[in-house]
Amino acid sequence: MERVEPLTVGAVGCSDVAWRRTLPTFQAHDGIRLVCVAGRDPDRTRRYAERFSCAAEHGYEDLLRRDDVEAVYLSLPGALHAEWVERSLLAGKHVLVEKPYAVDPQEASRLEALAARTGLVLLENYAFVHHPMHDHVRRLVDDGAIGEVRSFSSAFTIPPKPYGDIRYHKELTGGTLLDTGVYPLRAAMLMLDADLEVHAAVMRRERERDAVLSGDALLTTPSGVAVHVEFGMEHGYRARYEIHGSEGGLFVDRVFTPPAGHPPVVTLWRQNHRQEFTLEAADQLALLVGVFHRAVRGREAIGTLGERSLRLSMLTRDVARRAVYFDV
Ligand SMILES: NC(=O)c1ccc[n+]([C@@H]2O[C@H](COP(=O)([O-])OP(=O)(O)OC[C@H]3O[C@@H](n4cnc5c(N)ncnc54)[C@H](OP(=O)(O)O)[C@@H]3O)[C@@H](O)[C@H]2O)c1
Repeated sequence: MERVEPLTVGAVGCSDVAWRRTLPTFQAHDGIRLVCVAGRDPDRTRRYAERFSCAAEHGYEDLLRRDDVEAVYLSLPGALHAEWVERSLLAGKHVLVEKPYAVDPQEASRLEALAARTGLVLLENYAFVHHPMHDHVRRLVDDGAIGEVRSFSSAFTIPPKPYGDIRYHKELTGGTLLDTGVYPLRAAMLMLDADLEVHAAVMRRERERDAVLSGDALLTTPSGVAVHVEFGMEHGYRARYEIHGSEGGLFVDRVFTPPAGHPPVVTLWRQNHRQEFTLEAADQLALLVGVFHRAVRGREAIGTLGERSLRLSMLTRDVARRAVYFDV
């Protein structure tokens, strides 16, 4: 088999998600060679470099100047992403960026246009869309297992984070809609494959830090399928969706961040008949990293993923505009 050169990657930001998830996945992946990490704190950056056996740069610009870095992985607070995506593309680097890559649709469309103009790959990290469990669910729906689809609901909620977490700083992250709300909205886009319109939303906002803590939104597809999404950082952990149809329903749990070894279970019910399908486990982050590698090497197009990212950015703007805010 023809050998494809590993992609040399530099990681910008010594973040929690990089330490726990992404950099270990890079290390284990044949298609990636992590050559450098960059951070603001020299001791912390050195600790990352030692664990992942790579070079350390003190300052993000120094990493972008390196000739041995073909692509960057950005995991900064969301509101800083657009600036560093832009700087990275202008430095000639392909970009894999944590969600959200932009805080509003203007920023998102500017970034998509720049990636197109420079001919570089820009991919936002929604790993869950690459998990095969969703194809399985879609096949069941397409085969008529639940009849005609009537409604979709999805929740991504997490327990509160420590007091100083970036998610409580509106100016750093844009709030929990852009952190947790994006997941059920992206899931609705993935599973219904239709344009969504936002009709109503409520958000609970903390007075003290002016931080949105949680929210609910109601949307529809053009054919009238109702969509309910729930998100936030003040509930027990939930990461699930349900699809209800004229003859039955489907439920899947742990849909957004399933561990690599977790076999997903899909529950199907029709009248009094109930069936469970246990699917094969998959490492969704490794699958996304593979997509990024093949896209940079010109072996696979990322297709509509950029368009989807832009559309998602429009939906989050619409949810924020429609929302009634309750201060708590
Ligand atoms: N895809 C997923 O499954 C997933 C999961 C969790 C998080 N995320 C996303 O990943 C990103 C990072 O999240 P996280 O929880 O890992 O955050 P985090 O641990 O707080 O890391 C953010 C990093 O950004 C850098 N930074 C630059 N300017 C900063 C500032 N003014 N304040 C704070 N940090 C600053 C810091 O690195 P240096 O000090 O080294 O520069 C910091 O370590 C977010 O966009 C989040 O939405 C994605």
